[in-house]
Amino acid sequence: MDATAATRVGGVGLKMRDGLPSGTSFLVAFARGLGVDERLVDPLASSLLPRWMARVATMPAILGPAAPAYRRAIRTATFGLVDHNVLRTEAIDAHVTQALRSGARQLVILGAGMDARAWRLDALQNATVFEIDHRATQQYKRDHVAGKTPPADIRYIPVDFEKERFIERLQTAGFRPTDRSIWIWEGVTMYLPLAAVHETLGQLTRLASEGSHLAMTYRVPGHLPFGAVGRAAIPALFAAAGEPLKSTLEPSELASALAPEWDVTYDDDARGWRALTASTADPSRAFLSERLAVLKRRRRKEGA
Ligand SMILES: C[S@@+](CC[C@H](N)C(=O)[O-])C[C@H]1O[C@@H](n2cnc3c(N)ncnc32)[C@H](O)[C@@H]1O
Repeated sequence: MDATAATRVGGVGLKMRDGLPSGTSFLVAFARGLGVDERLVDPLASSLLPRWMARVATMPAILGPAAPAYRRAIRTATFGLVDHNVLRTEAIDAHVTQALRSGARQLVILGAGMDARAWRLDALQNATVFEIDHRATQQYKRDHVAGKTPPADIRYIPVDFEKERFIERLQTAGFRPTDRSIWIWEGVTMYLPLAAVHETLGQLTRLASEGSHLAMTYRVPGHLPFGAVGRAAIPALFAAAGEPLKSTLEPSELASALAPEWDVTYDDDARGWRALTASTADPSRAFLSERLAVLKRRRRKEGA
């Protein structure tokens, strides 16, 4: 699909069907493009959005003194979506920056969507970034970043986690399993069936050497806001948008799925992300079902 067609379709709907780019990836980029204040704006995000969304996200630049009130109105109207995604990205950035300090030079972003870390984080300057995503979403992004050179060396690998493996393709693209790596899986697992989540965790465990880091978000059961209406309407909205919510995990289930190869070093919801980052974004009750877990790879067993 050409970029214009993708923009047009993405502009009227949020459907990941028929080879269209992911609508939820636009929602996250919208949040980062708008930000909760000037300091927290992702400079690349708006250029990755369908035109109407980009207009809404970039409005503060022309509103001058009215910008804070405009941002506040959108933050409220979207039930905290902007704040939640800004906080999530800040919390993951904090962990990734720390992991980069420990010497890792390979970053794998699973379900990368419109993630702009490869362009945005100076700490990635000497790193190789591998972006894995659905073909249509990845192609849309590649069309839109053409001409914007990232400081990082970036490699794209199209994969459908429900149907394809990435172990071999990642290595063909230059990933070195013997070197330390960082893995980000941000806002993706809830759109996959549990079997695909476990399969993906199995593959990355085989590729990650001792001392590697994994930062992943997942949805816990329950916690949907607005009572019975929310419990019925929220999943229905995602399904109607073509990206149904497919899985939940308890923190203990995640920890045991990854034991004994990984140690959980952090696991919290948006209230904890705010404490971690000292962010000005507010955790939203509507999104407290999403948690961020950070894990560190243990030493491999002989012969594993
Ligand atoms: C909410 S977006 C998050 C994007 C990005 N991680 C971020 O935080 O900006 C969900 C992403 O998961 C990807 N995704 C969903 N199901 C997938 C699958 N079966 N295979 C590959 N990617 C998938 C979508 O293409 C989309 O980019």
